Amino acid sequence: MKIALFAGDGIGPEVIAQAVRVLRALDLPGLSLTEGLVGAAAWRATGHPLPNETLAIARASDAILFGAVGDFGCDHLERHLRPEQAILGLRRELGLFANLRPAKAIPALVGNSALRPEVAAAIDLLIVRELNGDVYFGEKGRRATSAGLRQGYDLMAYDEAEVSRIARTAFEAARRRQGRLCSVDKANVLETSQLWRDVVIEVAADYPEVELEHMYVDNAAMQLVRAPGAFDVIVTGNLFGDILSDQASMCVGSIGLLASASLNEGGQGLYEPIHGSAPDIAGQGVANPLATILSAAMMLRHSLDSGAAADRIEAAVATALDHGARTRDLGGTLETEAMGDAVLAALEQQGSLAA
Ligand code: IPM
Ligand code: MG
Repeated sequence: MKIALFAGDGIGPEVIAQAVRVLRALDLPGLSLTEGLVGAAAWRATGHPLPNETLAIARASDAILFGAVGDFGCDHLERHLRPEQAILGLRRELGLFANLRPAKAIPALVGNSALRPEVAAAIDLLIVRELNGDVYFGEKGRRATSAGLRQGYDLMAYDEAEVSRIARTAFEAARRRQGRLCSVDKANVLETSQLWRDVVIEVAADYPEVELEHMYVDNAAMQLVRAPGAFDVIVTGNLFGDILSDQASMCVGSIGLLASASLNEGGQGLYEPIHGSAPDIAGQGVANPLATILSAAMMLRHSLDSGAAADRIEAAVATALDHGARTRDLGGTLETEAMGDAVLAALEQQGSLAA
């Protein structure tokens, strides 16, 4: 099990450190961890946010555990040198097109949701976000208008192969879950979205057992807070998926809880918390490490064929929360490392229960 560890910026190293403690505590045979520089940390050391050496480590690994990138001190840099290019570059270079972002209510935390507890308690959804296309990777730049005004542009485009590939991932996921898929677009305005919708309907013919509906993204944002329990699987493009997944995280209770997997066609995966580098709280030891610990669990399940170890991590997180472990984002006072301690204690307890 060759794992690349890219901690990155801000709270990234703090939350990755706790996930590493948990991975080591599991005593997995053949586990090897290789660190690499990404983001502003890499730019400071090497002049580039995604150095070739890091890319080589990524290519040689079975899976990547990623912290976060982003740093206020880099806003002045040209776009190709900004820390975000590390994650965007990894997604592109490794062909990580399928971003799975599950959001599920945690019973001990429904009181932390921005929604009424009975609404939040019903959440059990999966956002399948396309990750290699859209305005993120379309032609972008600056130009002058005919009136001589400065103009910025980012081309939104999807081809049919990109849409059918992510649609299949989503239909497969829906088939394994409750059998309902909601495709989110803006087909009333965008031609990209009309093609998206046409192709999703074509792919649906291969999945007669999955119930498909279409929703405009503005309505989806509204339904996510009105009745999030009504969703099973959501499939959407890169930009809409970015926005809706942050929204879903607050419906669950905190952005510090949501894990994600980004997979390519070969099954290789990058695993990261959906939150960012949070420079405002970096270095204080107060970040919530659970999203990263849960990302490590997803990694064990999806890329390393260790579902049992993943179950153990998820159960330990649930136990820690049941026993009242709360970081600041959850209204408590536990620091990052103490939250790690709570998860490790719950893991050890499972061991002694089994013995
Ligand atoms: C995410 C992040 C990234 C994105 C940024 C850091 C480039 O917000 O993974 O959701 O926009 O995809
Ligand atoms: Mg985001």
